[in-house]
Amino acid sequence: MADPFQNVSDAGQELIDIMVETLENRGADPQMVPVIDAYLDDLTVAPGARIVEIGAGTGPVSRRIADRFPDASVLGVEPSPELVAEADKRVGGRANLAFAVGSGDRLAEVDGGIDIAVQHTVLSHVPDPAVLVAEAARVLKPGGRLVICDADFSKQSAGAFEDDPLQACFDLFRKTFVTDAFLAAKLPRLIADAGLTLDIFRVANRLTLTGPGVLGPVRMATKYMLDNGMIGEPLAVALVGEYERRDRDGTLYALTPFVTAISTRPRAT
Ligand SMILES: C[S@@+](CC[C@H](N)C(=O)[O-])C[C@H]1O[C@@H](n2cnc3c(N)ncnc32)[C@H](O)[C@@H]1O
Repeated sequence: MADPFQNVSDAGQELIDIMVETLENRGADPQMVPVIDAYLDDLTVAPGARIVEIGAGTGPVSRRIADRFPDASVLGVEPSPELVAEADKRVGGRANLAFAVGSGDRLAEVDGGIDIAVQHTVLSHVPDPAVLVAEAARVLKPGGRLVICDADFSKQSAGAFEDDPLQACFDLFRKTFVTDAFLAAKLPRLIADAGLTLDIFRVANRLTLTGPGVLGPVRMATKYMLDNGMIGEPLAVALVGEYERRDRDGTLYALTPFVTAISTRPRAT
C-alpha cells in the first residue's frame, strides 16, 4: 500500500478523520511546539513578508506562523481539499492567514517573491522530495529561506520493553504511512542539489510522556491491521486502550527525532 499521506483524498473519510485528529494533536503537543518555535526563532521576518507553508494539512503550523508574525501574510498550500476545508474552519480571526488547494510539485498559486517557505513533515510523505525542494527554491526570493522540518522516522521508538506491542504499531506505521523513513539523512544533499545554501541543520528529540501526541500512529496502524484482516476489533481496541493506560499511569514513552534544516536561496552575485 502506498503511504496514504501521498493522496489524502483517496484515504476514505474514516482515515481522514483520524489524520485530522492526529495533525491537530501533534500541532498542539507541548513536545512538538518547541521544535516549531525553535525554527521560527531563527527567522527574521520583515513587515509585509510573504510566507508559504507547503503541505499545510489542517494548518496547525501555519496558524502558529501567522500568530508569531502578524505583519506577514501566510498561505498554507495543501493538495487535499478535505484538509483545506478543515484548515479553513480553524483560521479563526487571523486576517493574515489563508489556505489554498495546491501541490508542492508545482506551486501554481505562488508567483515567486516568497520570503519564507516551510515544509513541515511533508517530504517524508512524497515519492520525489527533490521536486518539492526545487519548487520551493524556485518561488523563493533571492535571500529567501526554506525551512524543512521532518521526523526521522527510521529512529522513532515507542518501545518500553523488548517486543512491546506498541512498538509494533509504530513499526507498521513507518512501513505503511511513511514514504521514506530515512528522508532526514538525505536533506543536506537535496538542499544542495536545489541550489540552496544550508545554514542550520539540527536534530531535536520529541519525547512524548503524556497526552495524545503520538496516539495517531497507533490509531492508524490498528485501523490498517483491522481493515486488512490481520487483527480483530478486540485487539484494535486494546492497543489504543494500552496507549491511553500508559498515558494515565505515567508509563508512556515515545521518542521521535525531528530534523530541522534551514537554507537560503543565494542572492545573485
Ligand atoms: C504529515 S502531514 C503534515 C501536515 C502539516 N504540515 C503539519 O505538520 O501538520 C503531510 C501533508 O503533506 C501533504 N502532501 C502530500 N503530498 C504533497 C505534495 N505533493 N505537495 C504538498 N503537500 C503534500 C499531505 O496532503 C499532508 O497534508
